[in-house]
Amino acid sequence: MSKSLFDLTGRRALVTGSTRGIGKAIAAGLAREGATVVVHGRDQANAEAAERSLFADLAQEGAEPTLLSVGFDVTDHGAMRTEVQRLEQELGGIDILVNNAGMQLRSPLVELSLANWDRVLATNLTSCLVLAQGVVHGMLARGSGKIINVCSVSNRLVRATNGPYSAAKAGLGSLTRTMCAEWAGAGVQVNGLAPGYIATDLNSALLSDPEMSAWVVARTPARRWGTAEDVVGPAVWLASKAADFVNGQIIYVDGGMTAVL
Ligand SMILES: NC(=O)c1ccc[n+]([C@@H]2O[C@H](COP(=O)([O-])OP(=O)(O)OC[C@H]3O[C@@H](n4cnc5c(N)ncnc54)[C@H](OP(=O)(O)O)[C@@H]3O)[C@@H](O)[C@H]2O)c1
Repeated sequence: MSKSLFDLTGRRALVTGSTRGIGKAIAAGLAREGATVVVHGRDQANAEAAERSLFADLAQEGAEPTLLSVGFDVTDHGAMRTEVQRLEQELGGIDILVNNAGMQLRSPLVELSLANWDRVLATNLTSCLVLAQGVVHGMLARGSGKIINVCSVSNRLVRATNGPYSAAKAGLGSLTRTMCAEWAGAGVQVNGLAPGYIATDLNSALLSDPEMSAWVVARTPARRWGTAEDVVGPAVWLASKAADFVNGQIIYVDGGMTAVL
């Protein structure tokens, strides 16, 4: 019963930013359930290396994954559109888009340059719109599709020096609901996945600061940092038919952080 609900056999997925961290874990999770997964990174060589390492990991578990790889900078809209079009033709369509690629850039607002503000918004917000536009025509024509926008606890909570990141992620939450409003009627489910503090490269500065790291543990009801693996189950659920009537929601995967003061 549960296998049929979460089975992704025959589904074609693109996971942006899947060379490492949360994206790589999600790519592995979708492939484990049978999806054909396109591994993506900023450049082709990185993406291919991640594809090879994912294949080796999954093969060791006894799986026979179908993986591809693609490289493009998500702030280069022209390259992104061309590559997505090529992938759509090669695969016959993309059924699952995980908008995961993202960056952090910490700076007090008074010192923040507009160039850095633009860079964070282009990477964490605008790219998600452009990629969704690239795949949604096929989804609408087929009457089915899943778009998962990787948001953050920063959708709801802010910290000093996180201005552009929080604004981008809050915008992504709003964009998720608008995508739902426009596409849900045609069978496309669009949801946000909002991790709490997860131990990845993105947080290397916080992880290496004992005071900050202890603050994360104390502020999280689960009393630990999250791992990329913690995000996989909710991502597989949202990508599967088990979540066919879940739409326009932001699912917090944060050890309870946003539930308590
Ligand atoms: N870690 C957390 O605590 C946390 C919490 C909430 C939300 N998130 C969100 O989760 C997502 C993944 O975060 P993570 O912690 O796994 O980050 P990460 O380990 O730093 O990995 C970031 C990924 O995004 C890709 N990427 C970044 N900028 C790109 C660009 N301009 N073009 C193409 N690819 C780009 C990187 O590719 P390359 O390897 O090729 O550079 C990499 O694959 C992000 O959207 C982040 O905001 C993370």
